[in-house]
Amino acid sequence: MEINRKVHNLIHAGPFLRNAIESRNLQVLSSMLGPAYRGIIAQNGKAARQSAVECGHDALFSWSYERDKPEMARLYEHAKKMQWNAATDIDWKLQLDPDDDGTGLLPDHYLPVLPLPSWRALTPGQKREQRRALLAWLLSQFLHGEQGALFAAAQIIEAVPWMDAKLFGSTQVVDEGRHVEVFHTYLTTKLEKMYEINDSLYVIIDSVCGEPAWDMKFLGMQIMVEGLALGAFTSLRQATREPLLQSILKSVVSDEARHVKYGVVALRSLYEQQIQERERRYREDWVWEVALQMRNRFLAHEFYDEYYGHLMSRRRWDQLVLGSPLMSLFRRAMFKRIVPNLVKLGLLSDRVKPRYAALGVLEFQDAKAATELTAEEMLSEAS
Ligand SMILES: [Fe+2]
Ligand SMILES: [Fe+2]
Repeated sequence: MEINRKVHNLIHAGPFLRNAIESRNLQVLSSMLGPAYRGIIAQNGKAARQSAVECGHDALFSWSYERDKPEMARLYEHAKKMQWNAATDIDWKLQLDPDDDGTGLLPDHYLPVLPLPSWRALTPGQKREQRRALLAWLLSQFLHGEQGALFAAAQIIEAVPWMDAKLFGSTQVVDEGRHVEVFHTYLTTKLEKMYEINDSLYVIIDSVCGEPAWDMKFLGMQIMVEGLALGAFTSLRQATREPLLQSILKSVVSDEARHVKYGVVALRSLYEQQIQERERRYREDWVWEVALQMRNRFLAHEFYDEYYGHLMSRRRWDQLVLGSPLMSLFRRAMFKRIVPNLVKLGLLSDRVKPRYAALGVLEFQDAKAATELTAEEMLSEAS
């Protein structure tokens, strides 16, 4: 039974393996294979209530306590002032509108299933249930991503050599704990539904944990996953008309904007001065693989299994979701946040630009990087 499940999962791992070979970087392929096996084939994120992920870094103590990164010190001071309490600063008394047919939570033009005859045949009650379920799937992935960010922030504190970065990281740990709290509370008390972690998200989190180099943790979590989160949170905030969710997303985005900024500040000077060309290429290719994981594989399979698995093949489902307005909105919002930061870090060389051009997201190379944007600007920008 166990072997059957793994063989079944191996068959579904095809798209991942094709993506992994796309960058033609064997070092990236070998670093991703372990996380891919654990995430997609063994499905460690779904197999039990808890799972252990091995972390590859050393904890670096500083006995001089030298504070020599003023830009990061300013971010730390700002972060201390901007703290909020998820239990009392969010109006949890607000109830979901009982008369809402679900379109207030997630408007219909975002539903990938909208063109399907089987969707049109549903009763209003079934449609309402599926609208809520899809939103619950999305917010569940936010929740799991926040847990990943919480752990990555703690690892970064240990692994980064600079005291100012360790101190800022202490505020991020509190921030991410708060984000876990708000999404979990919203899912369990308002939507009353929660989904397991998506396999691709597990692969990324596992891969970030296992990377021994501290800058790879910054790159994976602060630049890529947080970039995706910023894009997704701002898009969803514009899409939903649910006031409680809007207020949660607004508060979370104001924290996330600091985290991405912290990542860019930390990596910029390192990559300008102390990186070998071979290491830079590895990072460029690794980022590309993570981007593909995030772009191609967040396909709501857990929602599909529940509602559409008996109606169509997974391949057809993937095509449906990849071509849907919701996914194209998220993809654009995500790359709009990530690509300018990669430019700033020197990780978008002429060698890799054609890959981004093929995805139609190279236009964002001239957009503002995180260090030039406020949270308000991110929130008000149209996706
Ligand atoms: Fe967060
Ligand atoms: Fe964050």
